[in-house]
Amino acid sequence: MGSTSPDADSAHLDLATVQAALEVAVRAPSIHNTQPWRWRLEDDGLLLLADRERQLSVADPDGHSLLVSCGAALHLTELALRAAGWRFESSYLPDAADPDLLAWIRPVGRTDPDEQLASQVDAARRRRCDRRPFAEGQIDDDARNELRSAGRDSSAYVDFPDTPERHVELAVAVSWADRIERNDEAYLAEMRRWLRDPDVHTLVDGVPVEAIPRVPVDAPRHTDIPLRDFEVGVSGRQLIEHGVDEHPLIAVVFTETSELRDHLRAGMSMMRLMVRADLLGLSSCPLSQAVDFAAFRARLQARMGWIGYPQMILRFGRPATPITDLLLTPRRPVADVLEVAISPSA
Ligand SMILES: Cc1cc2nc3c(=O)[nH]c(=O)nc-3n(C[C@H](O)[C@H](O)[C@H](O)COP(=O)(O)O)c2cc1C
Repeated sequence: MGSTSPDADSAHLDLATVQAALEVAVRAPSIHNTQPWRWRLEDDGLLLLADRERQLSVADPDGHSLLVSCGAALHLTELALRAAGWRFESSYLPDAADPDLLAWIRPVGRTDPDEQLASQVDAARRRRCDRRPFAEGQIDDDARNELRSAGRDSSAYVDFPDTPERHVELAVAVSWADRIERNDEAYLAEMRRWLRDPDVHTLVDGVPVEAIPRVPVDAPRHTDIPLRDFEVGVSGRQLIEHGVDEHPLIAVVFTETSELRDHLRAGMSMMRLMVRADLLGLSSCPLSQAVDFAAFRARLQARMGWIGYPQMILRFGRPATPITDLLLTPRRPVADVLEVAISPSA
């Protein structure tokens, strides 16, 4: 353990520290890369707030995906601060009257920077969603156990529904949700609004066409559990040249209850999983059609006979080639998501 220094400075997060932490935090995944978050630096801590203007009105009417996305950004904020040697206390959804105030992080002291956490920060920066078919080969039990323990905390846990029967049931449930969404014009129109072509758009948010897989018509992709199809009126530019019989590892993030706080905690759990996967040399990507809507989540839970509440579904596998071959999906600059409200003397 490093030494702690309870001096007055340790009670205030300085702007440079916060900016550096948020450079990491904004690398969090978010639904359609909407980045529905903002932070405010105040004298007594850093606040994470929901940006409701970026909530998807069709695909996310109850803000579940927004909270999961913000939970991922919250975990990375805390991880980056911890790695830099900050000790703090966090409260999640601290004000019942203000559901957009998602977290309040109050510094309480300093300690030595932590190298193990620094490697997690590197993983968070490197990670990107891999929607390609994965390479052959199973993910062994040790890696599964590491993923399982990374995802677990006092309110969330992870499971892999991978017996043949469970796999089929899950495939049916996701395919059903996917079909309903693909037949909804409003859903498709909203997705189209979040697609980004560098020839037409400035790239700071949304899903770039380079991150969307394109399979040849004569060699369609074989996946039991369908990926979300972003090709609505655009052609994906991530060319997938040959068919592969894929067997990704599917993980489900559950919570014990299903309050707003659980949606945030599920996002934190998902982020820990994705960081751990990267450190294990694995690729990951959320696959969330079957958990987009409260009614879908309830149906999935009932159909699978689960006691816990399914919050997120992710696929994991070995990258076909290094993930650094894939485009790093852009983010808005930190200056656009951070409001500084500290008094000059702080
Ligand atoms: C709540 C949530 C749901 C998501 N659902 C899907 C999905 O169904 N399919 C998919 O390919 N990506 C999904 N994503 C991944 C986002 O599209 C991705 O994080 C975003 O485009 C940014 O790209 P990056 O994570 O590679 O940086 C989801 C992410 C979140 C946080």
